[in-house]
Amino acid sequence: MSNINNNLPIIFCAIDKPDLESAKKLCTEISKTGLGLKLGLQFFNALGPQGVLEIEKSFPNIPIFLDLKYHDIPNTVAGAIRSITSQCKPAFLNVHAAGGLEMMKKAKEACPAETKLLAVTILTSLDEQAISKVGYKETVKERVVQMAKLTQEAGLDGVVCSSHEIEAIRDVCGDGFILMVPGIRPENSDAGDQKRVMTPHKAMNTGATHLVIGRPVTQNDNPAQAAQDILNSIK
Ligand code: C5P
Repeated sequence: MSNINNNLPIIFCAIDKPDLESAKKLCTEISKTGLGLKLGLQFFNALGPQGVLEIEKSFPNIPIFLDLKYHDIPNTVAGAIRSITSQCKPAFLNVHAAGGLEMMKKAKEACPAETKLLAVTILTSLDEQAISKVGYKETVKERVVQMAKLTQEAGLDGVVCSSHEIEAIRDVCGDGFILMVPGIRPENSDAGDQKRVMTPHKAMNTGATHLVIGRPVTQNDNPAQAAQDILNSIK
């Protein structure tokens, strides 16, 4: 396992819900488990910063990863980060590494120290065939490693990457770099649209520092139990 100890939850549960009532219901379940909460684009585009504030107020002890994946010109991304962090206090926020070095530097300058800033490398829903259709010439791994190096050069705290690139990134970015890994599937669970998946236990042993897990927990009839089973599996 990685030697990062930032006192933040190892697992962030993706609260991919479009309304406050169902999001709060799910957060109440998750609050029994020690998992963090990940609020993403579906939640944010329905409920905005007010929705995030409402979750912060209702669950003040649970760290939030605000997964808004900013990708625009440097000035606009820096402004977006100032706007959101003047209202909400997420533990993690992220941008796309494809926005480039200058964008990531400006994003980091705009981000308060108490919020860790990560960069998304290549989405875990994309495989080799999908990225070659986008026009990328390198393999997924080569591309992701290059993006992780750029992210580190820009001074960010870490990257969001798939489990299949954990080792390659660790080799070049060292132990202190945060690797937040989605596309996690316990044994025998449905991959859905995720292409590059791994079990929670293997991902942590390979060097992930944090995992993002959505549907294997949220679509279970007993989300708190599903979360606990996953936590037990990585101990
Ligand atoms: O349900 P599932 O476990 O696939 O949810 C994964 C979550 O992680 C989703 O909210 C998705 O938006 C997010 N995510 C991802 N791949 C990335 C970055 C974020 O799947 N590269």
